[in-house]
Amino acid sequence: DMGGHDTFMHKEISEQPDAVDRVLRGRIDDRFSTVHLGGLNLDPREARTIRRIKILGCGTSYHAGLIGAGLIESMARIPADAEPASEFRYRNPVVDPDTLYIAVSQSGETYDVLAAVQELKRKGARVLGVVNVVGSAIAREADGGMYVHAGPEVCVVSTKCFTNTVVAFALLALHLGRIRDLSVTDGKRIIEGLRKLPGQIEEILKSEDEIKKLAKEYAGAQSMMFIGRVRGYPVALEASLKLKEISYIHAEAYPASELKHGPLALIEPALPTVAIVPDDDLLEKNRGALEEIKARSGRILAVAHQPQEKADHTIVVPKNEDELDPILMGIPLQLLAYHTALAMGRDIDKPRNLAKSVTVE
Ligand code: F6R
Repeated sequence: DMGGHDTFMHKEISEQPDAVDRVLRGRIDDRFSTVHLGGLNLDPREARTIRRIKILGCGTSYHAGLIGAGLIESMARIPADAEPASEFRYRNPVVDPDTLYIAVSQSGETYDVLAAVQELKRKGARVLGVVNVVGSAIAREADGGMYVHAGPEVCVVSTKCFTNTVVAFALLALHLGRIRDLSVTDGKRIIEGLRKLPGQIEEILKSEDEIKKLAKEYAGAQSMMFIGRVRGYPVALEASLKLKEISYIHAEAYPASELKHGPLALIEPALPTVAIVPDDDLLEKNRGALEEIKARSGRILAVAHQPQEKADHTIVVPKNEDELDPILMGIPLQLLAYHTALAMGRDIDKPRNLAKSVTVE
C-alpha cells in the first residue's frame, strides 16, 4: 500500500520524520546525557577496552557505515573505519581481538555481509549488527546490536533506512563516547540535536517543489559530479549512488580536496556538480572548491546552510550540530535523484538490473 504516494520510494522518503522518531524512542537517558542500547550485549568495562571499530556493509549500508565511523571517531575518539564487506572478506584481513566489528544491513540477508560476519565469528571476533529487518540472518548471527526501526522498505533503493542507520550510529557513538571521554555538556548538545531531527526533516521535505524544478534541469545531464569533504564526502557518495541507481545518469563522488588531483579536468558547463557545503570549520575550504569549479564554468548546485555565492542554486537546509548535519544534507538529494528519475520516466521502485536484497555472492 503506497498510502497515496505514486511510488514506494516517495512514500519512504516522506516517512523519514516518523522513522527517525522511532529509532530515538525509548533510548535517550537525559539524566546521564547518554543513550541506552540494551541489545548491544556490551558492558561498560568491555566497551572501554575497544581499541578500534571496523564497520562492514554493502552499497548504501556501507555509506551509512562511513558516516557512522566518522561519528564514532569524533564522539568516542575510537579509531573507526568502514569498508565494503565483500572487499574485507576477500583480502584475508587481520582479525584483531581489540577490534569491535559492526555489520550494517537493511535486509539483514546480504550474502557478502553475512559471510563476513560468519568468518569473523569463526575467528573469535565480537560482531555487532546494525540491521533493519528484525530476526534476519545477520541479526541472528551477530553477538548483539541495534535495530534501526525504519519500518518496511519496499523500494529497491534505500532511503529511510539509510537515514535511520546513520541516526543509529549517532546513538552508538554517543553511548560509547559517554562511557569514555565525551562530556555531559557535549552529550546534552548531541541529544538536543537528535531531538530536532524529525522536525528539521519535515522542513526539508517542504522544499520538494523547488527540488522538483531543479531536477528538470538535471534530467538532461550525461554525467554529474558530487563533492563533499570529511563528513560531507559520504553524503556525496550516497547521493551519487542514488542518482545512478534510479536515473541511470552517470555520477561520480569525490572528496572536494581531490578535485585538483585529477577530476577538475572533467569540469565544463555540461558536467554539473552537486556540492555539500555545511556551515562548519571547513566552510572556507569548501567555498574554495566552488570557486575552482566556477572558474572552469561548471554549473553548481550546493546543499548548504546559507546561500552560496558561487553556486547557481543553493538548497538551504536547517543547521543542526556539526556532527549530525550529514543526516539532514542527504535528504534533499534523495528528492533530487527521485525527481530526476521521474522526469526521465524511469521505473523508480524497480530499477533495471537491481534486486532489493542480494543473497548471492
Ligand atoms: C542502494 C541499495 C543497495 C543496498 C545494498 C545492501 O540504494 O539499496 O546498495 O544498500 O545492496 O543491502 P542491505 O542494506 O540490505 O545489506
